[in-house]
Amino acid sequence: MKISVLGTGLIGSQVIHLLTAAGHEATGHSRSTGLDLITGEGIEDAVRDADAVVNVTNSPTFDDASVDFFRTTVTNLLAAMEAVGAPHLVTLSIVGVDQVPDLVYYRAKTLQEELVKAGPVPYSIVRATQFMEFVGPTMDWTTDGDVVRLPSAPIQPISSADVAAQVADAAVGASLGGTRNIAGPDVFALDELGRLALEATGDRRHVVTDDTAGLFAAVKGDELLAPKGAHLSSVHYRDWLRSH
Ligand SMILES: NC(=O)c1ccc[n+]([C@@H]2O[C@H](COP(=O)([O-])OP(=O)(O)OC[C@H]3O[C@@H](n4cnc5c(N)ncnc54)[C@H](OP(=O)(O)O)[C@@H]3O)[C@@H](O)[C@H]2O)c1
Repeated sequence: MKISVLGTGLIGSQVIHLLTAAGHEATGHSRSTGLDLITGEGIEDAVRDADAVVNVTNSPTFDDASVDFFRTTVTNLLAAMEAVGAPHLVTLSIVGVDQVPDLVYYRAKTLQEELVKAGPVPYSIVRATQFMEFVGPTMDWTTDGDVVRLPSAPIQPISSADVAAQVADAAVGASLGGTRNIAGPDVFALDELGRLALEATGDRRHVVTDDTAGLFAAVKGDELLAPKGAHLSSVHYRDWLRSH
């Protein structure tokens, strides 16, 4: 199959690798290759003749500007796909994203989903829980000196490799016209995850539990955990830490 992967970052690069290894013709596109989903530059060329288009781009910021990013990029992408008759759009989103309205980035991703669902192109949405790779940056945002403030929000982290495998699988399948949820096998409090990560990497910072700190302070319950019927991957966070 011919698959166009928009976004060549953490997930996109792995999706391209997996699809290519499986014998598909997967091409990556991002601003460095002349695609700009904000201005519209290069979109029709990127999606023309593709059997499936995978959207794993991301907003450069998680603030109010992310709302405009997802509104504009999805609107432009859907218009281009409709214009060239591209038959299937796979979008990577986040488990429970519509359940955390106090987090503006999650409102932006919810808008992305709503536009895709209301749009003219057959679609599949893959919702993943937080990437294991995301724990480090999450700690950096709330680090002050050697103290990392983290809330105790429950998180069910998944490795980006498992996410990429599920996204690649969705790309070669028929359009779901719906959502597939994927998650890691274990639930942790985020502050506990941070402590495990710091210990495993010999990082001298220490975690102070603060339920008002950072993006995940907006999470009040189990909104971000795998819903019933979700696909659970087999990579455990402690094993992932050992291998990274
Ligand atoms: N982090 C998590 O825990 C988590 C959980 C579930 C779902 N997700 C979702 O997973 C998706 C992919 O995340 P990721 O970590 O792989 O992202 P990433 O590594 O930050 O990569 C984002 C990609 O988007 C491209 N991009 C940004 N602006 C663009 C534009 N205007 N036009 C074209 N391409 C553009 C970037 O390339 P250039 O800058 O070169 O253009 C880059 O290749 C995101 O949508 C995110 O919401 C994340």
